[in-house]
Amino acid sequence: MNENKNRTGLSRRDFLKLSSAATLTAVAGYALYEYQPWLSYNEQSNLTWRPMVKETNTPPQMRELVRYATLAANGHNTQPWKFAIKENAIEIHPDFSRQLPAVDPQNRELWISLGCALENLIVAARATGFTPEVTYPDMADFINVQLTADTPLETPLFKAIPLRQNTRSEFDGQPVVVTDLDQIQSPTLEPGIGVRLITNPAALEAVVEYVNQGNLSQYTDPSFIDELIYWLRFNKKDALATLDGLYSRCSGNPEVPGWLGRMFVAGTKPQQQADIDAAKLRSSPGAIVIASEADDKSAWVRTGQVYERLALKMTSLNIKSAFLNQPIETAELRSQFQNAVGLDTSLPQLLVRFGYAEAMPRSLRRPVEAVLL
Ligand SMILES: Cc1cc2nc3c(=O)[nH]c(=O)nc-3n(C[C@H](O)[C@H](O)[C@H](O)COP(=O)(O)O)c2cc1C
Repeated sequence: MNENKNRTGLSRRDFLKLSSAATLTAVAGYALYEYQPWLSYNEQSNLTWRPMVKETNTPPQMRELVRYATLAANGHNTQPWKFAIKENAIEIHPDFSRQLPAVDPQNRELWISLGCALENLIVAARATGFTPEVTYPDMADFINVQLTADTPLETPLFKAIPLRQNTRSEFDGQPVVVTDLDQIQSPTLEPGIGVRLITNPAALEAVVEYVNQGNLSQYTDPSFIDELIYWLRFNKKDALATLDGLYSRCSGNPEVPGWLGRMFVAGTKPQQQADIDAAKLRSSPGAIVIASEADDKSAWVRTGQVYERLALKMTSLNIKSAFLNQPIETAELRSQFQNAVGLDTSLPQLLVRFGYAEAMPRSLRRPVEAVLL
């Protein structure tokens, strides 16, 4: 018997060739399974963010208003909302199955997210020929928007709805044009809501220190990490499967298999995360704190409205923005942060940095049918 042939009759070289081919096939098969290159994230993203086509019939128009509401900012992209389309009204309801008990135990940010959706709905309703009248969730657990036919009022904020994004990259450090800064620091407010602009480098450095402390606290809390991992989408296959959550490329991170991403996030050193966010804040020429007199559902909804209005205004001025809410989400830091930024008796609700940067990949949204009651 030829000594180079084994019991299958294959030479050692043939055997090696075969096993390399098998390994390559397995690796390629796994890569295909993980990444599914035939799925197009860009196509889905373009569909999500397509500009509104104004409808002449009321029912499709109402659905478009709901779609534009869902394009709003919202915590962890959980999209914690449901909408009810009535004859002359749209209701926005909380979807408590999408709450974030670790980072948002009071549902404060959930109601802020509904406020963001409300603002988009109001701006879009005015642009398509309705006057909206809002009933806040003081008595009931939902927001009602009564719609009365009127002359359409299209504004730059309406055009900004499909362009707004939370841009999590570092910014270019350039100061914001003074006339634009004036517009940012004096947005149209809601009763009981105020904003504080911070551009002084020493004051910004003090904010960096609070963001650091917030990160150190959150990234040592296993329930925070578990919740974050649950909502992270480490590759487009996972993002496209649920159409919600935090897709890695929207935060400037690469696509990886889910198991690897989960391992990586679970092993993140708190100081590592703190340093990344400190660099992001230091690359920003300014930050804004949105604060409220009360700390209840209606105040949270109005906070969301002011934030979204501001975000749309910044988008229309080509200014990018992103949240760094750690010092407000961390209960033991919130009142210290309130004093540090000179808020007196108002309560900090959101911390937003702003500046100039390239746009990032867009986040996805579930379709209207998935959010109708
Ligand atoms: C109340 C609230 C809190 C948020 N907190 C953070 C945050 O701390 N860090 C962050 O990067 N993004 C935060 N976001 C942004 C959301 O993650 C973002 O809006 C969502 O992923 C959808 O992406 P988009 O805004 O780019 O459409 C927050 C948004 C809201 C409304």
